[in-house]
Amino acid sequence: MDRVKTGIKGFDELVQGGFPKNFNILLTGLPGTGKTIFGMQYLYNGAMNGEPGIYVSLDMADQIFRDQGRQFGWDIERLEAENKLSIIKVPLDRERIRIFEKIKEEAKRIGAKRLVFDSLATFAINIDQFEVPLEIGEEVGKILGKSTAFSDGIYYAGSSYKRVTYLAINQLSKIGTTNILITDEQMGGSHTTIDGVSEYVSDGVVQLELADVGGGPARMLKVSKIRGTSNSLEFHSFDITSKGIVVSQPGNK
Ligand SMILES: Nc1ncnc2c1ncn2[C@@H]1O[C@H](COP(=O)(O)OP(=O)(O)OP(=O)(O)O)[C@@H](O)[C@H]1O
Ligand SMILES: [Mg+2]
Repeated sequence: MDRVKTGIKGFDELVQGGFPKNFNILLTGLPGTGKTIFGMQYLYNGAMNGEPGIYVSLDMADQIFRDQGRQFGWDIERLEAENKLSIIKVPLDRERIRIFEKIKEEAKRIGAKRLVFDSLATFAINIDQFEVPLEIGEEVGKILGKSTAFSDGIYYAGSSYKRVTYLAINQLSKIGTTNILITDEQMGGSHTTIDGVSEYVSDGVVQLELADVGGGPARMLKVSKIRGTSNSLEFHSFDITSKGIVVSQPGNK
């Protein structure tokens, strides 16, 4: 398996050297746990090593993205000018946005190898604003507990949160990039994610947490699954430093 290194200090060792190429990795956690920074760092490191990437931002203004990067010493503007990094800010106040077509075009333009989608939850909540093709296969029908597959067509509002999330993951798989898909964790619930389904569809799941340990709150990270990979199942503590995320030794939870 070809591995795509995140370049995040201490992380790649947990997943046999990196994410398998072309995988969809779900990155989940409560607000403020570091999902956006993790995603940015993955793209920044890729861009610095000859792998262009796209950040699809539904949650945050692109200027905030650049300013946040600068805090870690990352020159986002320069990478954008060199076509090594591209930020697609999706305007949620518009209608009939053809989001996946836009991503495909941009991926082609810069020859993207990496993609971060921030976030599946915001996409699903705002599904009314989008115009997207519906191509959900048999497997999807099976997991949803339906015996028949859905046919192709244009999809509009009215369907369930789960289906919409499926649709997004399915479309993003076709870009040809190795993807980090950000979503929200269900607060106090039984699912890893707010939609309760993306953790099954994705090829890998990384959970970020703020845990209360002896000395006060600590940032923790767990790789719950990566298909075809022997991953560490332990919680690992990490810090957000002046250079971004740094993962440390296995922690106790
Ligand atoms: N320069 C910095 N140095 C250290 N920590 C920082 C720095 N900038 C941000 N943080 C920490 O990172 C947190 C935000 O991380 P991030 O935006 O990645 O979270 P998130 O999981 O994407 O949150 P949300 O779900 O709200 O989008 C802040 O709450 C803060 O604690
Ligand atoms: Mg965020």
